[in-house]
Amino acid sequence: MLNKHYFDLHVQLKPDLVILAGEVSLYIKDNGRIEFIDFAYTDEYLSVDRIEPLTPAGPPLLNTTQRYMSDGRSLPGFIDDLLPDDWGKRVIASQFNSKVADKLLVLNQCHKGCGIGAYRLSPKGLKPNWSHGTKLDNSSIDRYSENLIDLNIDHDIIESSSLVGGAQPKGLIQINGKPYLLKLNAAVSSSYNSAILEHAALETIRSSGLRAPNSQVISFKHETYSLQGILIERFDIKPNGCFKPMVSINSLLKSTYTQEDPANGSYEDIARCIRDYSCHPVEDLKQLFFQLLLNEAIGNTDDHLRNFAMIKEDSGWQLSPAYDVVPQEHLQAEHAISFNKSFILPRLELASDTAKKLGLTLGEEVNSIQQTIQRIDTHINSCQ
Ligand SMILES: Nc1ncnc2c1ncn2[C@@H]1O[C@H](COP(=O)(O)OP(=O)(O)OP(=O)(O)O)[C@@H](O)[C@H]1O
Ligand SMILES: [Mg+2]
Repeated sequence: MLNKHYFDLHVQLKPDLVILAGEVSLYIKDNGRIEFIDFAYTDEYLSVDRIEPLTPAGPPLLNTTQRYMSDGRSLPGFIDDLLPDDWGKRVIASQFNSKVADKLLVLNQCHKGCGIGAYRLSPKGLKPNWSHGTKLDNSSIDRYSENLIDLNIDHDIIESSSLVGGAQPKGLIQINGKPYLLKLNAAVSSSYNSAILEHAALETIRSSGLRAPNSQVISFKHETYSLQGILIERFDIKPNGCFKPMVSINSLLKSTYTQEDPANGSYEDIARCIRDYSCHPVEDLKQLFFQLLLNEAIGNTDDHLRNFAMIKEDSGWQLSPAYDVVPQEHLQAEHAISFNKSFILPRLELASDTAKKLGLTLGEEVNSIQQTIQRIDTHINSCQ
């Protein structure tokens, strides 16, 4: 039998203006297989002055229902991006004393909406929450972090849309009114300290004049262990408090026929998205070039397509600031995505050729980028 499940997709247009942008119907078989997905923009969304599609790749602004076929488990990017990833699934499963939670359970538990950026998906009829995260102060952050680690999570965490992607324990929080993403080190006993390494990487990207959020390392003591984490300023919220639309590169490159993730992603694919959609393509290509060389130099092999995104700034869509740039614990040569048909990325010495292949003419600037990355690499090695 085919069961129909209904969800609402809301968008925040201004700090005080949220509208229902579209209605999503999932057609799922008894065995859990997703047959197809219907999406329809609301008249309210279509009638907004100078409105644009939810993402630069669609769905197109039509006043009819649009049907997306599926391979049985994949969802269109503009929905998939909003779903909790491994961490969120663990949080939800723990509410049911279980280890796993399937997509439908996860979706139905997002009573106050799931998603990051300006979009929220919630079961039909339920109004999403637009909180900037759980309000904490310097004294309550320890307890909050302990609860995250122990999965001692009350429903408030689900309701405050803290189900952001990835696998590490994490939450969306505010300290003194400022919104942050808090990521805690996964292993308490390990000497590998991803918080310190990520902070060093973000800090050095920023100091090179490229886009990366401010961050700081925090430490706290639990009864039995001490723990560190990284507090990262949110870049999907404007100074006026309004969320910005955001879309992962993974989502932009999904198969239009089956909604599957791209099988073999590449840096060239990201460059193509930048050329097709960015309002500042040269600036963004330069950032991508830098991130490619940096990821090779510091051993951030987890450079998959969900770790790159486009974000809608006032001037239009742009490559987002860098995030999840972390030297990996277990060194391996192959990266998650390829460049020039190889999963072993070019080393710094090949920077000029790499820039050319990405369509950049940088001239002398390549030398200073090489030196900067060399410096970053040395700095990060000293943190390990
Ligand atoms: N500073 C930020 N502001 C807004 N959104 C962010 C920021 N950093 C990351 N994000 C969003 O949150 C998601 C999760 O963050 P991130 O990728 O850093 O962690 P992760 O994938 O969970 O890490 P790990 O795989 O190590 O567990 C990202 O995919 C991105 O959508
Ligand atoms: Mg990530």
